[in-house]
Amino acid sequence: MTARIIDGAKVAADMRAELKEHVAELKKQGIVPGLGVILVGQDPASNSYVTAKERACAEIGIYSDDNRLPAQTSQKDLIALIKKMNADPKINGILVQLPLPKHLIEDQVLMTISPDKDVDGFHPTNVGRMVVGEKAFLPCTPHGVIQLLIRSSVTIDGSHVVIVGRSNIVGKPLANMLIQKSPTGNATVTICHTRTKNLAFHTKQADIVIAAAGKPNTITADMIKPGAVVIDVGVNRIEDSTKKSGYRLVGDVDFENVKEKASLITPVPGGVGPMTITMLLYNTVESAKRNAE
Ligand code: GUN
Repeated sequence: MTARIIDGAKVAADMRAELKEHVAELKKQGIVPGLGVILVGQDPASNSYVTAKERACAEIGIYSDDNRLPAQTSQKDLIALIKKMNADPKINGILVQLPLPKHLIEDQVLMTISPDKDVDGFHPTNVGRMVVGEKAFLPCTPHGVIQLLIRSSVTIDGSHVVIVGRSNIVGKPLANMLIQKSPTGNATVTICHTRTKNLAFHTKQADIVIAAAGKPNTITADMIKPGAVVIDVGVNRIEDSTKKSGYRLVGDVDFENVKEKASLITPVPGGVGPMTITMLLYNTVESAKRNAE
């Protein structure tokens, strides 16, 4: 079997077209959704993510307030900027790009963002709301994964999902979303991580494997059940002298071999990546709507 490839760019474009219409409707009511963006330092990957996020905002009509701060910015100044954005009615969502430089205390920074503007869904208030099944801003990458599954007609309800990776940004929230008693949940979830004893034993049982380990070739063809759905959240830069940049992006899955055994698979790039930004736009529009109500 050769897998059908899930075109994340196409799913993301469809969702962005829907969001653009929502934004146009809101503008008729005098509401312009706004996103405050903060990048500290010059990490090249973070820089390109932030640029892509701002471009995506502009494309659908969201106002973005760009703040690129020097790497030596103090905790106090960063917190003061977030507090200013918390109080700014033009800003419905605040995005502090991670990772932050080492001298900054990430938890404290994320806790300063008002839960009502926390469009990344990282504030403990939103994490708690998500866990108990209350209305919350859902973190963008896991929410994007669920949208990809739904929009590719994958049955989540009753499926066994094996997640490889237990990060706060992907693995943990994804597991919580997938076990919710809801039409987009009701899955049986296994979480594997670096201390899991026999990873292949678990992944071979999965109807859906979600790789979020941050390491190339974590999932190989011998580790999946024939016909499984494979979602690759990994984004790894590996050296490639044939590329102008000197590197290329690969996921956590051995795509070429796994695609011969899976029924559905996401590529890297062009799978989950475009969905992360789309869900950020979605949360920002949702926030603007809530503020207006
Ligand atoms: N760094 C890597 N992924 C993310 C994300 O989803 N949001 C933020 N703010 N930073 C990130």
